[in-house]
Amino acid sequence: MTAKIISGPQLREEILEEITQEVEAIKARHGVVPGLVTILVGEDPASISYVTLKIKTAHRVGFHEIQDNQPESISEDELLSLIEKYNRDDKINGILVQLPLPKQINDQKIINAIDPDKDVDGLHPVNAGRLMIGGDAVKFPSCTPAGIQEMIIRSGIPTEGAEVVVVGRSNLVGKPIANILLQKAKGANATVTLVHTRTKNMADHCKRADILIVAAGVPNLVKTEWIKPGACVIDVGVNRVGEKISEKTGKTIAILKGDVDFETAKEVAGSITPVPGGVGPMTITMLMKNTLNSLKFKLGI
Ligand code: GUN
Repeated sequence: MTAKIISGPQLREEILEEITQEVEAIKARHGVVPGLVTILVGEDPASISYVTLKIKTAHRVGFHEIQDNQPESISEDELLSLIEKYNRDDKINGILVQLPLPKQINDQKIINAIDPDKDVDGLHPVNAGRLMIGGDAVKFPSCTPAGIQEMIIRSGIPTEGAEVVVVGRSNLVGKPIANILLQKAKGANATVTLVHTRTKNMADHCKRADILIVAAGVPNLVKTEWIKPGACVIDVGVNRVGEKISEKTGKTIAILKGDVDFETAKEVAGSITPVPGGVGPMTITMLMKNTLNSLKFKLGI
């Protein structure tokens, strides 16, 4: 049996099209569009490429977008003042500060300064708390976990009463996706187990999973023998294992591998996300959705 491949780019296109149409409708009815600012500090190449793609995508779906680049030497106070400026800016519904930040700046202090109602990254403690409470309290689920849930739902994978095993307990992925899938809600209602580096018998837990979500950042951590035949496997790992020359552009690009061995896992799983081309494209897509929702909350629609 070969698994159904869950394609991130295909779902991205579907969701971005829905967002574009909603933006046009809101513009026609209310005369406003969602506004997103991305704040990039320094010149880390990976951060530049992420932020560029975020802004390009925001432009594509019809948002008002600002890319605010700041030098590596910016002080914590200067960055806090900049965030305050965007907190007060009526045209801005979403503020994203690209992480990591330089050493002189405390990441959490900066995240805490963002207005929780503009924290479209879902990283502010208020939004982490809202996610924990669930239901109507949730405003901005963090983007990668929200994207994972969307992939599961749109692929028709049943979650009701399903055994979900999440590998990895990070604040960015593991903890929030566990919270999302155990909510009393459609596309959730699962029995969730979260396993991590100190878990005994990680293999035994994984073997029970109807839905196995792996976000450990360790290439090939999950062995193919640990996958229950027919399970849905969501691989969140993005591990740079080398470099190659791109056939398309002739440029040197990273060779990426997930936390699961895709080639053998796809012969056992019922459905699976590849790396690249799986969860990755969903993160930016959900950032757009959160920014659109931020404007909708403000307008009360
Ligand atoms: N750096 C890597 N991933 C992320 C993310 O999801 N949000 C932000 N703000 N920075 C990141």
